[in-house]
Amino acid sequence: MKRFTTQPRTLLTTCLVGVTLLLVGCQQRMAHQPRYNPLGETDFFDDENSSRPLEPGVYARGWLLPGDPISTGLTAAGRKGGQKMKIKTNAPEEPEKEEEVVVPIGSPSDPALFVNEMPFKMSKKDIERGQVQYQVFCVPCHGPLGNGKGKIVERGFLPPPSYHTDPSDALPSTGLPAGYSRGFARYGQRIALKDVPHGYIFEVITRGYGGMPDFSSQITPTDRWRIVAYVRALQAQREPIDESSLTEAEKKAFEEQKKAEENKHNEHKKDDHKKGEK
Ligand code: HEC
Repeated sequence: MKRFTTQPRTLLTTCLVGVTLLLVGCQQRMAHQPRYNPLGETDFFDDENSSRPLEPGVYARGWLLPGDPISTGLTAAGRKGGQKMKIKTNAPEEPEKEEEVVVPIGSPSDPALFVNEMPFKMSKKDIERGQVQYQVFCVPCHGPLGNGKGKIVERGFLPPPSYHTDPSDALPSTGLPAGYSRGFARYGQRIALKDVPHGYIFEVITRGYGGMPDFSSQITPTDRWRIVAYVRALQAQREPIDESSLTEAEKKAFEEQKKAEENKHNEHKKDDHKKGEK
């Protein structure tokens, strides 16, 4: 019986043909389709941008709808915009003149354009979260006390206004008394930052103001409100407490706190005295 043998050359040729056929098979046209890189350029659309904006009215699941009280610090009139107002131009080296302008949405031409209530009830936890966020995002410029003496300001950045009308630790301001809103002053209104509506502070964080950048992409709307609550807490700390407005329980807690602080103070004094005797 004749045995079936294969010549080495025949084997090599068969292998080569096989591999070539396999490689050709892998060359799919689908791998080389025309495409744009994200945010690439194109001359197909008028705005030359290959990435298309969302159609008006498209909202992803989980997004806040416009007008949701969490997403805005503006009242219905503030959101509508279109208010006209006469303001003085302050262009440098030009004679001052009055001009009628359409107020941009979110600008502080009138406190009534901003809401003055929080969109959700602030718990102690919310204010603590606001404190953490304030320390991350605002302290570099506004300082931990909110007096505008942040580290960046020490190195020459435009000094922000203090949140407090107490002039004792404020930086010299731009012709306004300590703690007054520059935004409202631009529209001819003198309002202390401690008296601006909550919604105004929310809008400043969302849109930025003058030399201050906006934080809409870094801080979620809910956290922006928590920061507002913390700024209000910082401001309240400087205000004298009207004891007549406290409930009985609050009065008791307040008295206890005052006593504890007095005791602590007296103990420190005693310690200092002892140190002096030695
Ligand atoms: C990079 C520095 C910087 C950071 C960070 C910053 N601010 Fe400001 N902020 C400023 C400056 C500067 C001004 C004053 C702008 C001007 O006068 O042009 C200002 C003004 C303000 C005002 C007053 C607007 C008015 O009407 O006078 C508020 C309120 C405010 N900031 C809140 C915040 C909060 C809250 C944060 C944190 C989320 C924050 N800022 C983070 C620099 C900063």
